Amino acid sequence: MCGIVAVIGSREAAPLLLEGLRQLEYRGYDSAGLATVEATPAGPGQLTCLRAEGKLVNLQQRYEQYPAAGHCGIGHTRWATHGKPEERNAHPHLDGTGQLAVVQNGIIENHRSLREQLQASGVVFLSDTDTEVIPHLISQCLARLRSSGRAASGSLLLEAVQQVLPELHGAYALAVVWGETPGALVVARRQAPLLIGLGEGEFLCASDTPALAGFTRTILPMEDGEVALLTPLGIELHDALGNRVQRTPSLLTGTEHVADKRSFRHFMHKEIHEQPETAALWVARHLPPPSDAPGSPSLVALPLPAKVFEGVEQIQILACGTSRHASLVGAYLLEQLAGIPTSVFHASEFRYAPPPLAPHTLTIGVTQSGETADTLAALVMEEERRGLIADPAYAARLLGITNRAESSLGRLVPHLLDIGAGIEVGVAATKTFLGQLLTFYGLALAFAERRSSRSPAQLQDLVSGLRALPAQLKELVEEHDRRCAELAHLFADTQDVIFLGRGINYPIALEGALKLKEISYIHAEGYPAGEMKHGPIALLDSRVPVVSIAMPGRVFEKVLSNAQEAKARDAQLIGVAPEGPDTALFDVLLPVPAVDELLSPLLTVIPMQLLSYHIAAHRGLDVDQPRNLAKSVTVE
Ligand code: F6R
Repeated sequence: MCGIVAVIGSREAAPLLLEGLRQLEYRGYDSAGLATVEATPAGPGQLTCLRAEGKLVNLQQRYEQYPAAGHCGIGHTRWATHGKPEERNAHPHLDGTGQLAVVQNGIIENHRSLREQLQASGVVFLSDTDTEVIPHLISQCLARLRSSGRAASGSLLLEAVQQVLPELHGAYALAVVWGETPGALVVARRQAPLLIGLGEGEFLCASDTPALAGFTRTILPMEDGEVALLTPLGIELHDALGNRVQRTPSLLTGTEHVADKRSFRHFMHKEIHEQPETAALWVARHLPPPSDAPGSPSLVALPLPAKVFEGVEQIQILACGTSRHASLVGAYLLEQLAGIPTSVFHASEFRYAPPPLAPHTLTIGVTQSGETADTLAALVMEEERRGLIADPAYAARLLGITNRAESSLGRLVPHLLDIGAGIEVGVAATKTFLGQLLTFYGLALAFAERRSSRSPAQLQDLVSGLRALPAQLKELVEEHDRRCAELAHLFADTQDVIFLGRGINYPIALEGALKLKEISYIHAEGYPAGEMKHGPIALLDSRVPVVSIAMPGRVFEKVLSNAQEAKARDAQLIGVAPEGPDTALFDVLLPVPAVDELLSPLLTVIPMQLLSYHIAAHRGLDVDQPRNLAKSVTVE
């Protein structure tokens, strides 16, 4: 939530900042801003700040009118938390002299008391944001340090930031520039991501790798509590206690960090089309080739030590949004396939009402970004409360599932499954949802094999089904892309849609409804089909389409009866189901091949994604950057 970028080196900063912000715009697009510091021949430099409400393009236009010069600068793209999305609340925020600028991603929880304290000392605030307290605090600290005769320097700026940080409560990543020091900038992070990219004689710091990938492949992820002084000559890194830290940078590999729309109109559309490849990569990485040799490898190859699987009596999964929907499918598999009692929690609820502790529990945090504040905090809380118990049966066993191994989640948990879907830019998660599902199939199969909870032949059948998936997905994506594009106009005036599913496809109904809501702003509800008659059926009439997922298996007949009940109330019925006489009741059919019921969510989700995409695109909406949303939710 919010993206920050900072650069220092031998080139003009503003174009680099704008390009970095372009790559981070998925993190928020309520406003954008930048500040640069230009060195002047005599004495201190000159700080220029440009800000614009709305998308980055507005800032770009402003920059074309009023260029901001200098080789050092900071930038920000905002998702509004404190203060409306207006220009006066856009970052950077300045101190009273207008010569010190700060960008921040996070929330300063004690900003009110800090603001009162600063106001009492005569500071005038120009915005409603929590961030504005920071430049004023640093500025006052600099004034104190300088009153003892110290000259302006990067080290002085670093010292002032270090003195102010303990006063800030909450999670943040921030960057600071000062007009007095055109050759220095300071960055810091606590519980919000920040990475430094090392170029040749220049450094770029950003909230996420896409902003760095076009600049350098050599990166230094900052650890929690660290503060760094960047100059064209190097990085001075300090831990939270002020000690100097030396760390070897790492390399970004592959192209997964580069965001490119190719020939698609929207990232979301491209990412939906990438799913056959996501599945093919997953199969190649995790399903060893079939072998009859004795002692042949196990069904699934997961990069996890045996101890993760040993003695697990129950599993709890913590996640938000789409990741939670994938987790619900995961829980179904872990219970029905591997026989392990599994609960899924909204991470934001778990934090404040966790269930009583049970022994031998595996806790799985699922977050595609690896940065969702609630999921991370829930995991930390679980680790802490288990740490208070002496009995080793209650020890925390944490596993993470993410698309961003280099994220905060990756550093928080001892074991990680990287879904490897490649960077996802569209705010609506699609290919990462599929990647999360596949990861759960792998995990459930691995548990089931170890526990012999299903016969080897049954498990092998599922593995064969997974191997067939990439080809099935390819056909399905192409077919439904066409069909859903043709259908979209039917929803031009629709205000409500109901999605129904049962069993393992109930979470897909939830996901279908979420996709539609978030990108087309149509009200939608996902419901377990059998629950309709307990209330929601009252909503149905000819203006409320019902999308019903009916896949052969345990609940096929039941879902068809539930669909009949909706039809009897004049609802327009859209079926996600195999073609055949049983499914002739649907007014519109989005056909899906009749696969093993356990594998069906991997296919039924495709028409859900494409239907939402085409409805939103038909309505002319901003599919990749829907209103009020951001790709990674780094605030509570
Ligand atoms: C929906 C969507 C969100 C995220 C949620 C959690 O398309 O993308 O609901 O799933 O904000 O995000 P992660 O998975 O990054 O924790």
